[in-house]
Amino acid sequence: MPGAQDLIQAGEWGCVPDVTLASHALSISAPSSGYRAPVNISGPRIQTQGDFSVLATLSDPARSGAFLTLVGALGTGSLYWIGLKQLAVGRDHGAIRVEYWTGSSPKSTSRAFTLPAGASGAINLEVARVGNNIALFVNGSQIGSFAEPGLFASGQAYFGFNVAPGNTLNVLALAAAKPAGSNVSLFVPDLQVATRSSASLRDSAPSGLLIGAAPDRELFLSSDYAQTLGREFNFLVPGNDLKFAQTEPAPHVFDFCRGDQMAAYARANGMKMRGHTLVWWKGVPDWLTSGNYSAPEAAGILHEHIDSVMGHFKGQLADWDVVNEALSDTAPYGLRPSYWLTQLGDNYVDMAFRWAHAADPQAKLFYNDYDGEGLGGKSDAIYNFVRGMLSRGIPIHGVGLQMHLDLDHPPSESTISANIARLGALGLEVHVSEMDVRLPVDSHGVASAADLASQAAIYKNAVSACVANSNCTAFLTWGVSDLYSWIPIRYPGFGAGFLFDRHFHPKPAYYSVSAALNSDSRRSR
Ligand code: XIL
Repeated sequence: MPGAQDLIQAGEWGCVPDVTLASHALSISAPSSGYRAPVNISGPRIQTQGDFSVLATLSDPARSGAFLTLVGALGTGSLYWIGLKQLAVGRDHGAIRVEYWTGSSPKSTSRAFTLPAGASGAINLEVARVGNNIALFVNGSQIGSFAEPGLFASGQAYFGFNVAPGNTLNVLALAAAKPAGSNVSLFVPDLQVATRSSASLRDSAPSGLLIGAAPDRELFLSSDYAQTLGREFNFLVPGNDLKFAQTEPAPHVFDFCRGDQMAAYARANGMKMRGHTLVWWKGVPDWLTSGNYSAPEAAGILHEHIDSVMGHFKGQLADWDVVNEALSDTAPYGLRPSYWLTQLGDNYVDMAFRWAHAADPQAKLFYNDYDGEGLGGKSDAIYNFVRGMLSRGIPIHGVGLQMHLDLDHPPSESTISANIARLGALGLEVHVSEMDVRLPVDSHGVASAADLASQAAIYKNAVSACVANSNCTAFLTWGVSDLYSWIPIRYPGFGAGFLFDRHFHPKPAYYSVSAALNSDSRRSR
């Protein structure tokens, strides 16, 4: 079919458990003890209420039970079949077997179709939705059709596979196409390109100031998310995907697929990406903390981690939070207890920055912390801490001010500005790195109009303070839409912290940030 799009090349398969990608083919192997049924929920999917066609080249499996699946709705319950709407088409006992599940029963409907004469070795399978029917073709010949039982009423189809115990399926090609006139679209999340608007935040900012946000995995599930992020922001920081436990899930085993997916999205949308975070008291894996490592072993693990993670993203990520939240919450704001402090001692922050600089000498290295945005004990402690690092010749280039605020005692514009300025006088850049302003919300996650107005003023103060200081080179929020937020989990009863509401509509805070960027005190000076 003309216009078919190669989904192995375009799609992100590296993050799908049980699927391996080798020399342009996908391979799924099930152990003798059970089935493997991966679904690529953050990779490419078909979006249409109309006709579509999926073409797959499937190797001849050693045994029966090797299926391509098209999933119209993911399972929702504790049992795999609850809510699952899935069509499986594959090779079974020398025939083509179709099985489908409609979400309300563990029993599938199953039927077999005869392979055309001469079909051996790898076959080209086409699964086409034509009107209310599914038609099947093998090596170009139609082998049957049946009524489509409403599996794709959602207008979506995810790609997946189902492989029986002890079997291996090799998918040599996978493509999707639409017949002329069908309104099908193929959604490849990490390559979604947002439609740009000249009124966006990214286009309103003065030059030298990046506007960013911290997406999580939902970026790849929601086209509203992908569109809003790429339209409004020119900087992103993965909210969780570059933390220690994610990037090194087992000793010396590194996993960059999620970070790579974000990087692909950023590239597709002309955005820069920031790294967060290499050394943190939280987010360390159990294998590390319960591993009984000696102090030199722990130092070796951290050194290798920094080398590997920064090495992988070298040339792609210009800025890294090397150390996150090293200082305590209360006076005298000394080093906070952590695995790294215990194992490596008081010098661990210096060591981490030295290793980071060696791993990527071009990268700008940040110390990132919270509660030190305006003036006060914690911000004095951060200031003195980084000044001490500079005096010891440690390669540090910037400070991240997280800016997780609420309506109680937010720092004033003048104190934030004074703090940014004094860090600038040390020669340091500042990123407002994680801003949100949490509000009390009702059971629907909705805040009052008065609180939304107060929130807008707090955002405006932070942005204006940043705009007023040329060493403030980025302003980022810790999420995009209030629909996807860490706040209600961390602070029950609170939410609504970002610039876009649960429907991705701009909030009063969006307009106040936009106005502060457009007033542009930086350019007029
Ligand atoms: C948070 C994430 O948003 C959550 O999803 C996760 O469960 C915990 O971490 N300061 C930081 C961020 O530097 O890494 C934190 O992110 C929020 C506070």
